[in-house]
Amino acid sequence: MASTPSVLVVGGAGYIGSHMVKYLLRQGCDVVTYDNLSTGYRDAVLGGEFVLGDLADKAALEDLFSTHSFDGVVHFASFIQVGESVKEPAKYYENNVTNTLNLLNAMVKHEVKRFIFSSTAAVYGEPQYVPIDEAHPKQPINPYGKTKWMVEQILQDYDNAYGLKSIALRYFNAAGADPEGELGERHEPETHLIPLVLQAASGRRPHISVFGRDYDTPDGTCIRDYIHVADLADAHWLALQKLLGGSDSAAYNLGNGNGFSVQAVINAAREVTGRDIAVEDSPRRDGDPARLVANSLAARNALNWLPVRHDLDTIIQDAWRFESSR
Ligand code: UFG
Repeated sequence: MASTPSVLVVGGAGYIGSHMVKYLLRQGCDVVTYDNLSTGYRDAVLGGEFVLGDLADKAALEDLFSTHSFDGVVHFASFIQVGESVKEPAKYYENNVTNTLNLLNAMVKHEVKRFIFSSTAAVYGEPQYVPIDEAHPKQPINPYGKTKWMVEQILQDYDNAYGLKSIALRYFNAAGADPEGELGERHEPETHLIPLVLQAASGRRPHISVFGRDYDTPDGTCIRDYIHVADLADAHWLALQKLLGGSDSAAYNLGNGNGFSVQAVINAAREVTGRDIAVEDSPRRDGDPARLVANSLAARNALNWLPVRHDLDTIIQDAWRFESSR
């Protein structure tokens, strides 16, 4: 391996992927982004080579791997909406599982053996205890979480059979934006709490709906563990370096270990933005556990990962800078 690795970022035009591309470029890596722009943006890829392509296109993948030499692959390209995955499971199994297999098979064929995978807290399903550690039972309750857990299991088999080493990173609630203001969250439609709250603050939406105030939490609203996208990028880099250094396959939670309620997020957003944010109470959303908080000690110990932008105000400030620029 060269001292500055050559990295393929699949889904590098998306929210977390684009932050990763920027991070890798800053480390001096050779970066190739492969993205079909179905949910990503070409202008979010701030450098390196961009290849417009789809993971369903095996010929395009063959071409990509036969014309480049990669030390590792970081895979962000997947559909992520829990509710949609219940209504359109075929879309999720096809893209998140079958297309990921196409990528893994191209890697095996071309002997690229280091893989970082975007997984999710949704692999655990309804929490049996919190904070959730990696040993928590994996009983995903929706197709989205199932697709991610299936890929994690496939990765174990690919390691056994083909020596493909992987680290699966199970994100809790990815949030925030590039601290330098160049990148941020641009989901269409947006379903995530923090960007929606900030759109209500900026006037792009009339209000924020609070999905349920009758949960068994101190203020009755759901508690989540928000982790800054810059800290996520850092974890991916550390995981990649660990694999390139010869480490075995693993799976780690990525969260701060702090839970904030929906109401606490709205209160913090009012403080940070100085705006009055209109709130509308709505019924519970299906499938929302009351409390999801990560135990991320394994990632901290094994990767020497230390989230630095863990403060809720910092996460919201960075996201607000991006929202204000739009
Ligand atoms: N919420 C609202 N109003 C909204 C949007 C969200 O009250 O308009 C609430 C939700 O009910 C939830 C919290 O804000 O309690 C956070 O919701 P998000 O949609 O931002 O995030 P989730 O916790 O539902 O989902 C995240 C990831 C998923 C992942 C899941 C793990 O986005 O990809 O965690 O369970 F699957």
